[in-house]
Amino acid sequence: MEKFKEEIAKIISNTIDLKLEFIESLIEIPKENGNGDYAFPCFRLAKELRKAPQIIAQEISEKIDINGTNIDKINVVGGYINFYINKKEYVKYVLANYSSQGEYGRSNIGKGKKVVIDYSAPNIAKPFHIGHLRNTVLGGALYNVYKYLGYDVKGLNYLGDYGTQFGKLIEGYKRWGEEYNIDEDPINELTKIYIRINQLCKEDEAVLEDCRENFKKLEEGDKYCVELWERFKEVSIKEFKKIYDLLGSKFDSWDGEAFIAKKTDEVKELLEKSGKLVKSQGAQIVELEDVGIKTPCIIEKTNGSTTYAIRDLAAIIYRAKTFDYDKAIYVTTYEQTLHFKQVFAVAKYLGLDEKYTKGLEHVSYGMVLLPTGKMSTREGNTVKIEDLLKEAVQRAKEIISQKNENLEEQEEIAKKVGLGAIIFSNLSTTRAKDIVFDWNTVLNFQGETGPYVQYTYVRTKSVLNKVETIPEIAEIDFEKLTDQYSIDVIKLIARFNEILEMVIQKEEPAVLAHYLVDLAKAFSAFYNENKIIGTQEEVQNSRLYLTRAVSEVLKTGAELLGMQMPEKM
Ligand code: ARG
Repeated sequence: MEKFKEEIAKIISNTIDLKLEFIESLIEIPKENGNGDYAFPCFRLAKELRKAPQIIAQEISEKIDINGTNIDKINVVGGYINFYINKKEYVKYVLANYSSQGEYGRSNIGKGKKVVIDYSAPNIAKPFHIGHLRNTVLGGALYNVYKYLGYDVKGLNYLGDYGTQFGKLIEGYKRWGEEYNIDEDPINELTKIYIRINQLCKEDEAVLEDCRENFKKLEEGDKYCVELWERFKEVSIKEFKKIYDLLGSKFDSWDGEAFIAKKTDEVKELLEKSGKLVKSQGAQIVELEDVGIKTPCIIEKTNGSTTYAIRDLAAIIYRAKTFDYDKAIYVTTYEQTLHFKQVFAVAKYLGLDEKYTKGLEHVSYGMVLLPTGKMSTREGNTVKIEDLLKEAVQRAKEIISQKNENLEEQEEIAKKVGLGAIIFSNLSTTRAKDIVFDWNTVLNFQGETGPYVQYTYVRTKSVLNKVETIPEIAEIDFEKLTDQYSIDVIKLIARFNEILEMVIQKEEPAVLAHYLVDLAKAFSAFYNENKIIGTQEEVQNSRLYLTRAVSEVLKTGAELLGMQMPEKM
């Protein structure tokens, strides 16, 4: 809404000797309704002018001339001058501006910039747990919003397909593979083998030694070990894809840790060259005390194996070369905060162009707790995500059919509602916070939920479907949309693009989730108070026009979060 801001800045600049850009940078949008549409705070001027902010505000306001402008009224409250925009002009500006853009909220701020997002990244032969679900949904939403704002985005699924645990799994399989039905239920069966061999390793040091030997063989390309590992990987990916299909997740690359592990020599060489690599108790490490990180980064283990850290460093080099990124985002739980701090610090010693190290960003998120507490692979106490997603669809179906028995395509709608509910619930809590998963909250049609947003969208659709054509902008009498309910809706619509930009600035899809709930609430109030169909023609046209705008913003916003919108429910 730059137009009004600029106009206000000009009006103020006629009264005081300050740079236009400076004035504009101070202008705010008041949080509270009733303090005008824009406000000019005078606090920053107090020191230089040696006057109290209230006095400055008073003096400027007395000199302001609003004749012939889009401002209806000004007043002074405390150290602020509040500006009230002419409502009709405001409505016209917002709606006309948006209709000319074609697509609500879109902008091209990302043009020419490349972003890679490392997300989901489950570990093969291990359950895709509820944390990976949050990760997948978060990364997916960021992916969509970046793309919508014009960035060139790549989604990278950095599979956890490497590590000493595969030495164990191979050992377990060697011993008892026949007893387990891996094709039927791969991840659960492999998990059982893993738990069993882990137990045996604890009891018998010699078995542990065999496991280590297997891993070494795997690294050296031994045929038997590699083939087994490939099979574990294949069956795991097949399982993960069932979840991705339900969620609609797509990736541009599936290169995992094993692929990168082959590229770690270069990292060692570069670190040696930089003089940063030191031996410590048999391992190779980089000290980071001087950059304020107490724990050193372990680059190579005592037995010479690669570490998670060196693999991430090799991945940075690889991604810089392959994708020439401006920004590289890593979505993981906050448990990995130290790891990324270390890796990003060590990356500065690799001699890469500064652009690549500056662009590194860890996007962390909190735990998802089931009411029964956290889950761990080793104890085998997990929820199968595929089952959870299917249960969501089933529950949604029950609720929907209770509400409307005769609804057609219930299956399709239940899928959109059930999955939408899960996706929304993973995003609507600020990512830093833990979530306690609870069916009643997730599927509540009245709460701040996915189904509530979908339900509001369906209401807009049922209004719009009552008429044959929606009027063009030229047919709208903007005066008819100046009541408070309409204005509240229009103010939100005006903010859509700013909200999307905030999502990527904070890497926080929750901003969009909250916005959609606010818009849905504002529309519900508008709809309850303002009759749409069957009113005087100009009124009906204007309200229909606004309803369609809400409908489009809700749909675009929800789809950016990764949800799908039902047309009926
Ligand atoms: N596979 C890891 C896990 O499940 C996450 C990998 C995150 N990405 C990365 N580049 N380290 O914990």
